[in-house]
Amino acid sequence: MPSNPICVALDTPDLDRAVSLARSLKAHAGYMKVGMEFFYAHGIPGYVKVAEQGLPIFLDLKLHDIPNTVASAMKSLMRLDPMPAIVNVHATGGLDMMKASADAVAGRSRLIAVTILTSLSDDDIWAAGFETAKDTQAHARALADLTQRAGLDGVVCSPHDLVGIRHDLGRDFLTVVPGIRPADASTQDQKRVATPETAMADGADILVIGRAITGAADPVRAAEQILAGLHAG
Ligand code: C5P
Repeated sequence: MPSNPICVALDTPDLDRAVSLARSLKAHAGYMKVGMEFFYAHGIPGYVKVAEQGLPIFLDLKLHDIPNTVASAMKSLMRLDPMPAIVNVHATGGLDMMKASADAVAGRSRLIAVTILTSLSDDDIWAAGFETAKDTQAHARALADLTQRAGLDGVVCSPHDLVGIRHDLGRDFLTVVPGIRPADASTQDQKRVATPETAMADGADILVIGRAITGAADPVRAAEQILAGLHAG
């Protein structure tokens, strides 16, 4: 795994901007993340252009459908060249769907599952009908446990859920953590956030950081400042 834990979320529909960000940030990050905003605009050719900049790619498409459909989609993703380093599904797709995904990936990429989106508050989760979830952190731990039982490599989780997930699932379970905001940054649409230093101290392996870097006047400087903060801590 790269020693730099920063994964830059290239959330833009602009191909040239994504490629130029990937090029200028490659010496300052460990991974690039290609998500649905970019992928639905530029598809596989766009993905390849970003991947050719050289950093390992987290292809964050968050698949969520019946087991057969998700497994077939994963088989298609496994034909990408270069191969994504990390791909993902939603854990709420269930045990069978995650097992079918793991069979389709067959160890060629690391496969992780989204537990609970960092943009959802306790009230949002309640309103979505998950009244049986006693609290959000317990819900995230249960989903992480299901993910491990399905044989996946790790989870995408909020920094608020990290300590419990680490406690339950051990040091080798990969934790990829969005909702990262430097202390002075606006939270925007994210609700369950933490600083890079807190997330690393609580056991994050990879920090997914989008707008705090890509929306800065100088993205390279923003990434460097975040790294300097991590090294100081
Ligand atoms: O700009 P910001 O740092 O908030 O971007 C966070 C990125 O992480 C986005 O690309 C978003 O899709 C992704 N993500 C998230 N919460 C999750 C899973 C992924 O914010 N639970």
